[in-house]
Amino acid sequence: MEKLNGKKVNTAVFISGRGSNLKSLIKSSKKKNSFFKIKLVISDNSNADGLKYAKISNIKTNIINYKNKNISEKKLLRKLSNHQINLICLAGFMKILSKNFIQKFKKPILNIHPSLLPKYKGLNTHKRVIDNKEKYSGSTVHIVNSKLDSGRIILQERIKISKFENEKTLEKKILKIEHKLYSKAIKKFLFNL
Ligand code: GRF
Repeated sequence: MEKLNGKKVNTAVFISGRGSNLKSLIKSSKKKNSFFKIKLVISDNSNADGLKYAKISNIKTNIINYKNKNISEKKLLRKLSNHQINLICLAGFMKILSKNFIQKFKKPILNIHPSLLPKYKGLNTHKRVIDNKEKYSGSTVHIVNSKLDSGRIILQERIKISKFENEKTLEKKILKIEHKLYSKAIKKFLFNL
């Protein structure tokens, strides 16, 4: 992949909702010494709150209507290629990309997941973590492959769960670490650290 040759890596961020991770990725991409540039924000949901962060920063947005996955993904591949995207970062994107899409894109796709993978893949992680009375949770940035939340782990950060933790407080704690973790993980990935 195109990297470390002085050019910033053209990146697309995929979101479905709130977009707080997108917000912090945009912030870190704007730093002088940043190594990636967000050229495109993709959403499957035209009402996603996070789209506002792209608009404020004049980043192009594109809504993908996922009614027909096959057709949507074909259009998406064309979009990504037109914008010379070399890296996709999924940040709260609620659709599962097909194996075909992952193969055809040929470039890396990263995801951030709010648990200590390989534990608690899938949805409702915080509830399951609390119900199971875990002592720790955290967040993981990993490479996307065709199995859900199962690709190679790039970076992970752990937090301690307090006695009085509930889903909301845990979500808040984890989001706070995610907002630093994602760009750190991208750097680690690009520089093979
Ligand atoms: C994050 O917790 C992320 O780990 C998960 O979805 C959440 C997205 O939050 N994949 P936001 O939309 O970035 O605020």
